[in-house]
Amino acid sequence: MTEHSERYDVGGVLLERPFQLRRLGHFLFQSEHIREFHDFYINLLGFQLTDEIDMGHRMKPEVASTIDDTRLYFSRYGGDHHAFIFSSANMSKARGRVFPPKVTVGQISWIVGSLKEVVEGEEWLARQSMEISKSGRDTPGSNYHTYVLDPFGHPNEILYGMEQIGWDGRSKPEEIWRPFKEAAPLPQIPEYQEVQEGMKRGVDMESGYRHTETLPFDYDVDGVKLPRPFKITAIGPVRLMVPDMEKALHFYCYGLGFKITEEVEWNGHRCYFLRAKSDHHDLALYPEAIGAELGLSDHSYCMSFGCRVYNYRQLRDAIAFLEGKGVEIRYLPKELTPGMDYTAFAVDPDGHLVQLYCYMEQIGWDGRPRPPDQRRNVDLGNWPETLEEASDQIGSETFMGPWM
Ligand SMILES: [Fe+2]
Repeated sequence: MTEHSERYDVGGVLLERPFQLRRLGHFLFQSEHIREFHDFYINLLGFQLTDEIDMGHRMKPEVASTIDDTRLYFSRYGGDHHAFIFSSANMSKARGRVFPPKVTVGQISWIVGSLKEVVEGEEWLARQSMEISKSGRDTPGSNYHTYVLDPFGHPNEILYGMEQIGWDGRSKPEEIWRPFKEAAPLPQIPEYQEVQEGMKRGVDMESGYRHTETLPFDYDVDGVKLPRPFKITAIGPVRLMVPDMEKALHFYCYGLGFKITEEVEWNGHRCYFLRAKSDHHDLALYPEAIGAELGLSDHSYCMSFGCRVYNYRQLRDAIAFLEGKGVEIRYLPKELTPGMDYTAFAVDPDGHLVQLYCYMEQIGWDGRPRPPDQRRNVDLGNWPETLEEASDQIGSETFMGPWM
């Protein structure tokens, strides 16, 4: 792969590009079964809604009336205003935003550390002849961003400044949103001043959206009573099955700056595991043909969206809980998820997989993954009650609570 020769000063350190991805921030599925989707992701997995934006009034009434649900649903597991967004696939079609076939993922959004990285990142990505689809600052969420399309049409976003939801669980009132339709001129005022100015104007700071939980708080989850026997504490990795691996690697490695942690050959399919930081992988790329071999839904390039739960006991309880609610659980050959050992996949109402796990191998200064023979040996049909501790058992960045 081509190397970059230029270097950019990012906070006093010289990097190959003027931005550095930190972690997956949020992810969007467009759904063919929006009611069932809502039930699956909100009621069963426990994402909490932070805003429902009705797009109906932005359309002609005769268009809006053809759509089963005109809302964009924003949801979170922790402080970030949104980690998971979903909407009806019909809405994109009706609004003329036609995604290429098999692109059911509307956003793969990566957090970078600063506003400057977002703005300079846009210029740089454009210079690399990458297709920029949108820049500015979106609401709700108030994050500054640039969207760039991967070779297959998946919008990848780099973003800074995601709104944080605090103790009262309320989203920011719409009256103090300050959207931008293009890249923000630098420097910008901080959020503190936006809020201060809204207070001066007498904006009702309690008018923002607050999630309503509908299930009873029946489970003792490591000492806290929750509606489900587990808590999602991180999202990602994302797995894509791509029609052109070379183009995919060029975009994600050369373009976005992912590093290849590991390559695996499985049944003749070459698979790549890419990291942004110290998790073994944030993104995995598989050849498109692997889907049919694994019996996966062929409606999407997306193999799975990861949801990490807090610990191993919660992982086992999550699987039992979802199975008890009639959700299909699948297990994939362990070679396809190196660095993750105990993991299972719940099938969502559209046939996407949601990967449940609690542990991700950590990559250190020398960039080398653990040799396969030193990993925990998973017996797929026979998970033990407890695990021996791995040296990097709790290395991943995790939302530390309060859990709800
Ligand atoms: Fe976004």
